[in-house]
Amino acid sequence: MTGLEGVGGCSGENSTVVESREWVMSAYAAEGVPTSDHLKLRTTKLSLDANSIPDGHVAVELLWISVDPYLRTRMTGHDDGLYFSQFALNEVITAFGVGRVIQSKNGKFSTGDIVVNPFFPFAEYCIAPPTFLRVIDPTAGIELPAYLSSLGVPGFAAWVGIEVLGNPKPGSNVFISAAAGGVGIFAGQLAKLKGCRVVGSTGTDEKV
Ligand SMILES: NC(=O)c1ccc[n+]([C@@H]2O[C@H](COP(=O)([O-])OP(=O)(O)OC[C@H]3O[C@@H](n4cnc5c(N)ncnc54)[C@H](OP(=O)(O)O)[C@@H]3O)[C@@H](O)[C@H]2O)c1
Repeated sequence: MTGLEGVGGCSGENSTVVESREWVMSAYAAEGVPTSDHLKLRTTKLSLDANSIPDGHVAVELLWISVDPYLRTRMTGHDDGLYFSQFALNEVITAFGVGRVIQSKNGKFSTGDIVVNPFFPFAEYCIAPPTFLRVIDPTAGIELPAYLSSLGVPGFAAWVGIEVLGNPKPGSNVFISAAAGGVGIFAGQLAKLKGCRVVGSTGTDEKV
């Protein structure tokens, strides 16, 4: 997960134009680790004036964005028949994120609302449709990154694995591979909470 720092420069004292850095898929990486040959950082100017925001949309400052393994599957250039399509070339990639509403043209969202969205652009700012936005309560005592980890898809995947599919009995042995990974750390804790004896493996000693 990556914390995004505050804004790039605004162009003028009363201007509502912000500079926003964003990651763009410039070429697919069929194999190996995607590099700067495949992902490019570009800077765009985004107008936050109310008349620049379509009705029903909101302007959001991204606070946290989640770098998940499934993103890699969207960068190969080959649709694999699974549920996610490939990222479009020369378009900003998207990911689960948490952001703050800074301008709203939707009655369901107010300036200052903290929202999560599975398809936020990998950017500092964006204009977002309301479709997948969910407002969260920042006073609930939960740190914002937790909405992308323990309360996000990795935690949900671990919960499905342990509670729904595995459902181990107290006292039984549970083995977690990739135990230091995003899913593995929660799977191990959930199994411990059920009273299991948990053994995990990791690729290197540093991860233990
Ligand atoms: N993150 C999610 O939200 C999510 C949701 C649903 C499903 N999943 C799936 O759950 C799995 C784990 O996700 P994650 O988020 O925990 O990933 P992660 O944090 O990136 O961890 C992946 C770990 O898997 C281990 N690994 C890599 N190649 C391996 C191999 N060939 N054999 C055995 N272990 C290998 C490595 O750990 P070591 O070096 O320690 O062995 C690696 O660090 C992935 O298959 C992912 O697609 C993830």
